[in-house]
Amino acid sequence: MIRAYRTNAVGPLLMAQAFLPLLKKAAQNSTEKGLSCSKAAIINISTVMGSIQKTSESFFKPVISYRCSKELRDLASRHPNLVLVKLDVANPSAIADAAKIVEGKLKGAGLNLLINNAGIYAQVSLETVDSEEMIRAYRTNAVGPLLMAQAFLPLLKKAAQNSTEKGLSCSKAAIINISTVMGSIQKTSESFFKPVISYRCSKAALNMLTKCQALTYGEAGILCVALHPGWVKTDMGSQEADLTVDTSVRGLLSVLPVLSEKHSGNLLNWEGKVIPW
Ligand SMILES: NC(=O)c1ccc[n+]([C@@H]2O[C@H](COP(=O)([O-])OP(=O)(O)OC[C@H]3O[C@@H](n4cnc5c(N)ncnc54)[C@H](OP(=O)(O)O)[C@@H]3O)[C@@H](O)[C@H]2O)c1
Repeated sequence: MIRAYRTNAVGPLLMAQAFLPLLKKAAQNSTEKGLSCSKAAIINISTVMGSIQKTSESFFKPVISYRCSKELRDLASRHPNLVLVKLDVANPSAIADAAKIVEGKLKGAGLNLLINNAGIYAQVSLETVDSEEMIRAYRTNAVGPLLMAQAFLPLLKKAAQNSTEKGLSCSKAAIINISTVMGSIQKTSESFFKPVISYRCSKAALNMLTKCQALTYGEAGILCVALHPGWVKTDMGSQEADLTVDTSVRGLLSVLPVLSEKHSGNLLNWEGKVIPW
């Protein structure tokens, strides 16, 4: 995952940063109006395989984890039914260990719902972002959810097999990736006053991952959806955000029970509305 991202996404970013002064010079020296390749251009050779909308055509084929949150530990001490498992999603061996612990806690039962919520965000622009920050964000926001789903897949499959429900649902077996509208390419211009390049690119990758998971795991009876919680007053969202944690979480909790196969592979917001890729 990191090897491909380094060459296919971080490489083009660093190339554009390095060649920017020369491109700007060409644009300034040109007498042409508007934008064109003969004036100054960056062409990134991509692939239809990178189109989330086209993925179905080209793609053949309550335990809570925490890292160091004191709030969660306080919550668990007040609610003995909550089981906490220590986990750093940027560490593959910690993910494998957590899956073993959860398997033990489930005592032979399957896991119905995996919510990948961990995420990181940095205030970086196209000018200030570097290769390390791009990889750091990708590791937590995209590779983490991928490895989590791989590690927990046997338990999710077990839940789906043991269920008598038809179709796909969160009460049967589901992977919910907490993503963001900032990972939507179509919506980028609406919020680009906050460039947050590493966050956007990693969440766009998470959106693509969700689509691929839906196409792959649907056959095994596992629903896969990406959810945008809204702009929420958390450490990440800041106190300027629109929504309180309570409003966002209540919204997300009312969306989960209505999710079905028609939503699998989509990005929805906290009110259940589809966000375009
Ligand atoms: N807040 C918003 O406005 C907003 C908007 C759209 C999407 N989201 C998404 O919602 C999710 C939650 O965000 P938030 O607003 O609650 O952010 P937050 O206040 O910054 O909290 C992020 C959480 O992720 C955990 N985390 C980060 N890296 C981790 C790792 N490597 N392993 C395990 N846990 C890790 C943090 O754990 P520690 O406490 O141990 O650091 C923290 O609990 C994220 O995926 C974010 O992208 C948020």
